[in-house]
Amino acid sequence: MKYGYFDNQNREYVITRPDTPAPWTNYLGTEKFCTVISHNAGGYSFYNSPEYNRVTKFRPNGTFDRPGHYVYLRDDESGDYWSISWQPVAKSLEEANYEVRHGLSYSKFKCEYNDITATKTLFVPKGEDAEVWDVVIKNTSDKPRTISAFSFVEFSFSHIQSDNQNHQMSLYSAGTQYRDGVLEYDLYYNTNDFEGFYYLASTFDPDSFDGQRDSFLGAYRDEANPIAVEKGRCSNSAQTCYNHCGSLHKQFTLAPGEEVRFAYILGIGKGNGERLRNKYQDLANVDAAFQEIIEHWDSRCRKFQVTSPNQGLDTMINAWTLYQAETCVVWSRFASFIEVGGRTGLGYRDTAQDAISVPHSNPAMTRKRIVDLLRGQVKAGYGLHLFDPDWFDPEKADVEPSKSPTVVPTPSDDDKIHGIEDTCSDDHLWLIPTICNYVLESGESEFFNEVIPFADGGEATVYDHLKAALDFSAKYVGQTGICKGLRADWNDCLNLGGGESSMVSFLHYWALDEFIKLAKHLGNHQDVDHYTNMANGVQKACEEHLWDSEGGWYIRGLTKDGDKIGTAQQTEGRIHLESNTLAVLSGAVSAERGARAMDSVDEHLYSEYGLHLNAPSFSTPNDDIGFVTRVYQGVKENGAIFSHPNPWAWVAEAKLGRGDKAMKFYDALNPYNQNDNIEQRVTEPYSYVQFIMGRDHQDHGRANHPWLTGTAGWAYYAVTNFILGVSVDYDGLAINPCIPNDWPGFKVTREWRGATYNITVENPQSVSKGIASITVNGQPHEGSIPAAKQGSSIDVVVIMG
Ligand code: NOJ
Repeated sequence: MKYGYFDNQNREYVITRPDTPAPWTNYLGTEKFCTVISHNAGGYSFYNSPEYNRVTKFRPNGTFDRPGHYVYLRDDESGDYWSISWQPVAKSLEEANYEVRHGLSYSKFKCEYNDITATKTLFVPKGEDAEVWDVVIKNTSDKPRTISAFSFVEFSFSHIQSDNQNHQMSLYSAGTQYRDGVLEYDLYYNTNDFEGFYYLASTFDPDSFDGQRDSFLGAYRDEANPIAVEKGRCSNSAQTCYNHCGSLHKQFTLAPGEEVRFAYILGIGKGNGERLRNKYQDLANVDAAFQEIIEHWDSRCRKFQVTSPNQGLDTMINAWTLYQAETCVVWSRFASFIEVGGRTGLGYRDTAQDAISVPHSNPAMTRKRIVDLLRGQVKAGYGLHLFDPDWFDPEKADVEPSKSPTVVPTPSDDDKIHGIEDTCSDDHLWLIPTICNYVLESGESEFFNEVIPFADGGEATVYDHLKAALDFSAKYVGQTGICKGLRADWNDCLNLGGGESSMVSFLHYWALDEFIKLAKHLGNHQDVDHYTNMANGVQKACEEHLWDSEGGWYIRGLTKDGDKIGTAQQTEGRIHLESNTLAVLSGAVSAERGARAMDSVDEHLYSEYGLHLNAPSFSTPNDDIGFVTRVYQGVKENGAIFSHPNPWAWVAEAKLGRGDKAMKFYDALNPYNQNDNIEQRVTEPYSYVQFIMGRDHQDHGRANHPWLTGTAGWAYYAVTNFILGVSVDYDGLAINPCIPNDWPGFKVTREWRGATYNITVENPQSVSKGIASITVNGQPHEGSIPAAKQGSSIDVVVIMG
């Protein structure tokens, strides 16, 4: 069953049936103001942090999809009313047509009902802390019509939903007031804070308004049947106390064929409502702001465009996967319909991995995130697992929380600098490939010399921060020389404490390999020798202690008592995805064992929806292994198809030169390929999810937690750099694809350091990997292609064979 289709021309997903089994979401905003919105206009906005400065309320974790950013229409002759989005009024789909276009940073809602066609386009203009609702109502009947329009948002008490529910004092300290087309909401009595002041404005002069939620909805009613809309007029409520909303109402009389266009503006900051109401009264300014959003994404997507025989891959790589990866980098992993924002700042490992994916499309944010991470690293080398970048931002550090109830509270050093007990063994290691990748893309080699403070005092160059990370992992090893598991490794639910994690040793090897390449490039010979010795030691320990010859795969680790986790002898948790994929991805293991390990992955972990994290799932609690053994079978870390490490398998197969396998695994996870299987998938087909129920669960194939997953960044990085094989090394642009044998070739346009490379790859011998020849602007060439002059266009032809 399907509910929509991909419109590649416009980079939109078009929902043609609004009754999807769950709300399908989108992210609006490219800077500080963000709205997470569903295709039924449910959702919420926040400013800067998903935990603080919640502008509108939302009830998360369900299919309620309420409240939202709604426009109601009312036929003032008959009293019949509806909403431009299907919800919340939910007219019968027999009587009304709805279409929703989720685009990159905008959503367009269209409704045809009762001979009225209405559209509402939501987006956040660049440079403004506000969301614009561009509304058009057209009379398609042959008689004059009188139509009332009403907006509705429910203002938030600033902090996350749980605070909204628990913090009753806000009921007495917030209030609305109305002035000249602007409903202002003062969050804290008498505050002059920018962040304590929200508003809803309209470009028309309203006929009536409501700032009090319960006056607009009416007692014992909800968003589906507000009393104000039923009556055709708001009650001009605005006062202190209780719960608050933004409803501005206007009646329009439309001749046959006539249309009216106006805008609502939802935003933050005193004075901005009035200013933006004036600005957008000239609707050409709305058009210009919308065009800037289109150009914003044009310029980002242009950095890497592919045309291949796999339509699903092209659609995802050219728009949706990049968009999802940027969403994680820009808005963090804590603001969706599931992730409610109620944790501190950014996850260390999540951010460090996300940032590997978009240095080409968003270098500024990538750099900022990297600096945030380096400031959140302690001298000993590990990263603070959950930290807020504001704690370490010199500009924000001096703000006293008491001055503003909305700024991020700064915990004491004892609270934020956790010790080894609470440290995750992988966090810091992801920094190394990410930072190297950023510098390769940008060419900013001097970044390695920049001095950045540690979270617990002292400072070091970026280069020395990386050494501290590598040294930490070299120090914290167990009996066998394999890295300790500590509180957890990448797998939050594998809590090995004093046990050992093969996944971390393989990751350590990968990080060492990346660092050694860097040290060679910088000519730091002593470091090359020292870290090559370290890498050799890691490799030896891995091959000696982690290979399970009976199963033909790498084990997942050892408990603190030395029991192996993930062997052929076991009946549950026998084989794991992370250790085997990273064994190959890291380059630590022989090609022979690597191929055997990946064959085992295919045999035991593959399903039509992607690769399982482990199998069979655990059914017996074992606290020496961790919480994973207490999660239901087939769910999340316990035997689900956990999406994030799936791309590690694509990279592993690409490194082994097995393009058919890489594509088989890619296609299984690709949400695009589930577009016609929504009865099983449930969630949106344009976004990767955190996990898909595994075969040990009755809902096998059901996808959960869309959007905020490391899968997006990894999927993008794996496909562009390893399958299509267009990456950057210290000599220039490197091209080394690994594709299915039956691909005749593909084309990539890649912008790098200001030049455009038009790359044509031909595969006349039907191979998966291998380069027979390269020409650059018609001239034979060997190896990587050095950076060309800014503004130039270079034609590259690669013949595989
Ligand atoms: C989600 C967490 O955000 C991520 O850090 C972790 O790696 C995965 N769960 C797996 O446990």
